[in-house]
Amino acid sequence: MSYHKLAILEETGYVVLERHEQAADPAEWLDVEFVDWKSSGDTRFAPLASAYGDLECDGFWNHTPPKTDKDGVWVPRNAGAAPTLVARAQEPGANIGRCRVIELQPTGYGEALYNLHRDDNNRLNPDGTGWIVRGFFNLTHNPDSVMILRADKDDPATETRIALPAGAQLIVDTQRLYHAVWHEGSEPRYCLITSWESGPELEAYISARHPVSRVTSKAVTDEQVAAAEADAAARRAARAAVLAARGQDPTFGDGTMRASDSGMAMETLSEA
Ligand SMILES: [Fe+2]
Repeated sequence: MSYHKLAILEETGYVVLERHEQAADPAEWLDVEFVDWKSSGDTRFAPLASAYGDLECDGFWNHTPPKTDKDGVWVPRNAGAAPTLVARAQEPGANIGRCRVIELQPTGYGEALYNLHRDDNNRLNPDGTGWIVRGFFNLTHNPDSVMILRADKDDPATETRIALPAGAQLIVDTQRLYHAVWHEGSEPRYCLITSWESGPELEAYISARHPVSRVTSKAVTDEQVAAAEADAAARRAARAAVLAARGQDPTFGDGTMRASDSGMAMETLSEA
């Protein structure tokens, strides 16, 4: 047995759909209630669907009883305030797990590289069912900001930078690709993030929206890349020093940083 995965994600791990007419929609992300979630003040989340309908953002596997990232329960407070966002999450007709709005404060290139991580979307997901992937619907107009994706987090040559204007629609296998957002500007960025189960419903939704599985990255100079890599390395070194002083291993086996151990600003590790 194996998981059912989408053929269109096989090559690159992501797909960009045609842009949504975001300007025609109400700014419901300003009406929902945000909660602290591994917050350092840089990121907040407003859950629309959570494990059992409470106003919280923990992984579904961290509840009693634990569950995989499917069958999310709508949070009355926020789902009621954001019917348009709920409708967009429901439009594919695929099973929905976590569904939330992220608020991200401006973040530099180096900090974003430091924040690169993979999600744990498929913990407890039964073999033979659909692989969980995540949708990112950009709500605010951030044309100079990008979703950074890397197949190898330590190899800049594997990097793709996808622009995030209002209405940008990305679907990403975030358990396969390292990801984080480099958010330029002075105002927060808002984005709807939804966990969907791969299957014929999601496949049909994607196919109907002019999907592109390889896009041209936002241009950066060699100097920008070098400065960002140095910035990220300095942040990793500082963090490792703090953890070493506590006697903690700063990484998982695959090098993924462990948010729960750090006590530092790791809020973007579970999202982007
Ligand atoms: Fe993530």
